[in-house]
Amino acid sequence: MNRQPIIAIDGPAGAGKSTVARLVAEQLNLLYLDTGAMYRAITLAILRAQIRLIPDQIAEILDQTIITLHPPAHPSQPVQVWMNGADITTEIRQPYISDQVSAIAALPQVRQMLKQQQQAYGQTGGIVAEGRDIGTEVFPQAELKIFLTASPQERAKRRQQELINQGSNTELEQVLASITSRDYQDSTRTIAPLRAAPDAIQLDTDGRSITEIVDNIVNLFYLL
Ligand code: CDP
Repeated sequence: MNRQPIIAIDGPAGAGKSTVARLVAEQLNLLYLDTGAMYRAITLAILRAQIRLIPDQIAEILDQTIITLHPPAHPSQPVQVWMNGADITTEIRQPYISDQVSAIAALPQVRQMLKQQQQAYGQTGGIVAEGRDIGTEVFPQAELKIFLTASPQERAKRRQQELINQGSNTELEQVLASITSRDYQDSTRTIAPLRAAPDAIQLDTDGRSITEIVDNIVNLFYLL
């Protein structure tokens, strides 16, 4: 193998993938790739353009949209996302993007383009990539595949806390409905649905601290 190892972390909304992946990448000195941020950025581009979701119009937007990811200033912060020279880090976390992203992420053209970009990031390995289809489609050759889960209630509580931290108060019921709907759309789509790769290690994060999960993954990595 003439590339560095790849760690793939997949799982449903709010399972803690981003936080865990960021900290694992920091501890192991690997690049962190948040593929969900890329889907969120394209969703923002399509919503702003107010186009109809037909192949020609989608192709035009994809051609015009340049997304760049910059490492967070600190591992407790999300990745910085820029689109065509503008910082969209905060905007892509807004609930109106969360509510539309699964529909946009189901479009074959969108997936094809982002998969290519993600594979380019991982060409030399040395990467922790998180998303929905990393272990199954983007990096099926990843040395370590993790599927993070947690109960819907627990995931909704975590997501609600994140929203509060961003200054937006949302009812728990509403957050739960939003992540449940997104999980349903993500796991039932035809292309690259959310699912664990057959060789993924499933980790249930209910009642376990972030540190515990990160240590667990780092130890699994050292056993490779
Ligand atoms: O962080 P959270 O769990 O809310 O989601 P995210 O990782 O930001 O991903 C947002 C959405 O992008 C998901 O609900 C999926 O629809 C889509 N996505 C995807 O289809 N494939 C990926 N590899 C990553 C995200």
